[in-house]
Amino acid sequence: MQYERLVQWAKSVWEARWPGRNYLTIWASSDCSNSVAQSQIRPGRKLRGKARFDGFESLDSPVIVPISDYGTRGKKMVLTTTAGAFIFKFSQQGADPFEVIYASSYFDDEGQDLTAVALVPPECLETWAAFEFACARAVRPRIRRRRDVYIIGGTDAFFDPTVEWEDVILPEQLKSDLAEDMEAFFNTGVHIYRELKLAPFRKLLLAGVPGTGKTMLCAAMAKLAINRGRIVVYVSGSDRDGASFEKIQRALQAVTAARYPVLLIVEEIDAYLQGDDKARVLNVLDGVESPNNPEGALLLATTNYPEVIDERIARRPGRLDRIFVIPTIQNDHHAEQMLRHYMADQWRDEHMEVIPELINQPGAFVREAALHARMLAAHDRRTEVTLEFLQQSIDSLLRQIRAGNDFLRDRRPIGLVHNKGKSKKNLRPDPFGFKD
Ligand SMILES: Nc1ncnc2c1ncn2[C@@H]1O[C@H](COP(=O)(O)OP(=O)(O)OP(=O)(O)O)[C@@H](O)[C@H]1O
Ligand SMILES: [Mg+2]
Repeated sequence: MQYERLVQWAKSVWEARWPGRNYLTIWASSDCSNSVAQSQIRPGRKLRGKARFDGFESLDSPVIVPISDYGTRGKKMVLTTTAGAFIFKFSQQGADPFEVIYASSYFDDEGQDLTAVALVPPECLETWAAFEFACARAVRPRIRRRRDVYIIGGTDAFFDPTVEWEDVILPEQLKSDLAEDMEAFFNTGVHIYRELKLAPFRKLLLAGVPGTGKTMLCAAMAKLAINRGRIVVYVSGSDRDGASFEKIQRALQAVTAARYPVLLIVEEIDAYLQGDDKARVLNVLDGVESPNNPEGALLLATTNYPEVIDERIARRPGRLDRIFVIPTIQNDHHAEQMLRHYMADQWRDEHMEVIPELINQPGAFVREAALHARMLAAHDRRTEVTLEFLQQSIDSLLRQIRAGNDFLRDRRPIGLVHNKGKSKKNLRPDPFGFKD
């Protein structure tokens, strides 16, 4: 075992430097040999117990081959995790200075985990613990100023979690199922996952044709989450940066570092399920690369492409815990609610007439029809929006959609379908065939 060789060697160094002096042999934090910590924790640093760190020296050891990893800090490339042997030096007010022999090395060839041991004078353990703690803080900086929302990706990614829960007009059961899922997970689920030694990571998918309110629902869920002290991390697949796995990875890092429960929103997850990235996204969903945030992370993903959520995702238990189908308007009640909402104080009972025409349309359709009718009326200097205005607006919107569909159908051979991002979604008028 490597740690035994480390300890044997460290003991021989100790005996040669301070023959007969007592020491404890302890497991140590590998953060003490991290180059980031070593460059940040300067000699003279004060530690608990009226002690001071006085610097360190590298030692040659026949049982350790020094090697460093590297990574980015901000824009700079720096050395990070380091295997090696060191003497750390400390002085204390009113007591003798002391040193710690420290050795870190890889345990075996398979794992990338450093094993570290330290030989510490027994009476100095508290100072050593304070030093280890300082190293860990340097390696994993705390998020100093808490933000509620982290947006990953291009600057044009716009996400505003101010949507009121009541303003999302969908079947009540669907909304309450979703909200309860989130509450149950954060309130009790996280504990159960941890008890089972599983990373507390739950995954929900909102699937539905364009304009049914998925993004709006995400924003409303985000608002609920923030009100309850959770953090929101938001990634869009259709901003200027496109959909790269790198973005997902950055989001996962933010989730892991958050120190708070996190609602992770990944919009248009289908955009990441193409080419080489697919296998990696599946790894995240499977748990191989999933984030380990002890406070819990809930993934809320959206898509309007049921076909990319193929068998590998939908049918394999555990990849997605639940799929919520976000429907178009299915009945008169839902249609009336939506229309009343967007007509607001310009609602008139005669508007009921158009309700049957709203069935099977997404909410975005009703919003546009209502806004356009209200605009037409205002333009005509009318205070009331007559049924005629509303009907006109609906007719013109339907004509526009039909023309768009024809246009796109004619253009299809050109191959727009392969585009990533927004442009692809209107190409298949009715892609949705599967139910929850
Ligand atoms: N269920 C709904 N309740 C209230 N308003 C809605 C609803 N669905 C859509 N809308 C209106 O339509 C707009 C567009 O909806 P939204 O962007 O949420 O759709 P989406 O499902 O995310 O579409 P896409 O799949 O294209 O991303 C919303 O901002 C809202 O004004
Ligand atoms: Mg959307």
